[in-house]
Amino acid sequence: MKKIIIANWKMNPQTARQALQLADEVRRGAKSLKNVEAVLAPPFLYIPIISKILSGKSNLRLAAQDIFWEKGGAYTGEISADQLKASGVKLVIVGHSERRALGETNEIVNKKLKAVLGASMRAVLCVGEAERQKEVAFPKIIRDELHEGLTRIKKSLFRNLVVAYEPIWAISTAGRGRADNPQNIYEITTIIRRELYRMVGKRTASKISVLYGGSVDDKNARAFVKDGAVDGLLVGGASLDAKKFIGLLKEVEKIQ
Ligand code: PGA
Repeated sequence: MKKIIIANWKMNPQTARQALQLADEVRRGAKSLKNVEAVLAPPFLYIPIISKILSGKSNLRLAAQDIFWEKGGAYTGEISADQLKASGVKLVIVGHSERRALGETNEIVNKKLKAVLGASMRAVLCVGEAERQKEVAFPKIIRDELHEGLTRIKKSLFRNLVVAYEPIWAISTAGRGRADNPQNIYEITTIIRRELYRMVGKRTASKISVLYGGSVDDKNARAFVKDGAVDGLLVGGASLDAKKFIGLLKEVEKIQ
């Protein structure tokens, strides 16, 4: 399986012109990648213009940072799965901690996951605890986010699921804002994988990529993928600097 590296641009950059420039630099930098699937998750507004510069052969895919679960109609300000799909989006991030902080519940996350997976796009379900308690190996909050987020979803749809473990305290702009360490990530993602086995069986669960996110940059990316044994990374701050992000992609590309 290729490693998945997702650039979560959040509410950046300020103009379409800057977005296009950043995407184009990353597109060029990602050309030679063989072992890594690079994904850009820009604000909705920039998706169509970036989609235009990505050909079918490009090593870069487009993701959305959010979605609405209804198919269409009177939902002011929302965007549907079919609209995203028609604009070239292949993956959708669901349940990011910054959306949960705005009131998104596991029930809403579940509806959004159903919408994404039901439209045959890949869903990136984000889970993670706000604080690390030393004596707790698998915080209940992560267990609930997995179970409640994935409830009543057909097992066959899990092949398009990606799980991103993002401890909130490790996100560059939140809490302590310092990355976790690869050993912890290895331990907790092993528990997450085991939980997924229990939910859908080993065969299906083995197809689910498990990523790490939280203050990842070009310096620490390799250690997380190699020693943390994750299948990829979700990158915020460092993905806004083309040079840094391309450097990060190349570090992961080198891993055998
Ligand atoms: P960060 O953000 O890399 O800036 O910590 C990660 C995320 O929130 O997805």
